[in-house]
Amino acid sequence: MLNTKSKTVAIVGATGAVGVEFLRCLDEREFPLKELRLLASARSAGKQLSFKGQPLTVAELTDRSFEGVDIALFSAGSDISKKFAPAAVKAGAVVVDNSSAFRMKQDVPLVVPEINPEAIARHKGVIANPNCSAIISITPLWPVHKVNRIRRLNIATYQAASGAGAAAMEELEESTRAYLDGKDYAPKVLPHPYAFNLFSHNADIDPATGYNGEESKVIQETRKIFGDPDIRISITCVRVPVLRAHAVAVSFECEKPITEAEARKLIAGAPGVRIVDDRARNYFPMPRDASGQDDILVGRIRQDVGDPAGHTIALLSAGDQLLKGAALNAVQIAEKLLAA
Ligand code: A2P
Repeated sequence: MLNTKSKTVAIVGATGAVGVEFLRCLDEREFPLKELRLLASARSAGKQLSFKGQPLTVAELTDRSFEGVDIALFSAGSDISKKFAPAAVKAGAVVVDNSSAFRMKQDVPLVVPEINPEAIARHKGVIANPNCSAIISITPLWPVHKVNRIRRLNIATYQAASGAGAAAMEELEESTRAYLDGKDYAPKVLPHPYAFNLFSHNADIDPATGYNGEESKVIQETRKIFGDPDIRISITCVRVPVLRAHAVAVSFECEKPITEAEARKLIAGAPGVRIVDDRARNYFPMPRDASGQDDILVGRIRQDVGDPAGHTIALLSAGDQLLKGAALNAVQIAEKLLAA
């Protein structure tokens, strides 16, 4: 029997790196579904994806795709969101959008369910899923911010291929194979050789500030999610040859002094966070361990000796970019819509 709360859900970008994780999250979390509609470009129409062991056919995304849809999970890039989210909202769906298209719009809630679930109720048809590096950096910090305001954040990211989509993941594998075979490989998706290399994030740089688009997203989105426009943030985003989990080195300065023990206790209590901090074994958060995991792993928690006043803590986190950084966070938002 269908749950009375069962919903018709559409996935826009179902064939993409995040799209297939939407399918997996909806399945594993037993999201009550009346119907699941898979949408992608005309190239994928007719392709079959498996859901709960059954084949589901992908349809071409059009303005008419959303009739009867309750929740539309979008992850097909900003242009597609801008073009098709209005049609979905008009058809009566609530859009949970993984792109950056609407994140900074005043009437669009930007939500990490562990941080600001109350913002969901203010939606006017669209709820935005934050940038993956923002989610992974700030989810562990929220319990600290609530009791001892974080006034300054310094972040360095080590970002996986998945953030640039399935084609970038393929490029990492193919270029690594070519490198090991001693063959030339011309990058097709990312701007620089990826195998055994790293480079400044591929988002465009603002020539006036020297910050790239990814860095600006984390700065602005953190302020919006925390509801604190005055946090001072600096960040350097780097793409590393890792498949699907980002790592972030974070140093945060609080208004009042904070000890390592206090920070550890608060972060350990953060929902969706697991402490991995074994100094004896030199075992700390790694993208390989974070891959496929819902939790954000946090370790290297220590007093930042660069601040002798004792207001600053340094740490290292790793989180699955496709899960908590994208699909899982969006499905958690959809779950909150069910409860509303
Ligand atoms: P398709 O596989 O048919 O190209 P990723 O982030 O991994 O690159 O995935 C992007 C997702 O967005 C894919 O599912 C892709 O579908 C989808 N997509 C890209 N362009 C369009 C489009 N014009 N209309 C609908 N879906 C699109």
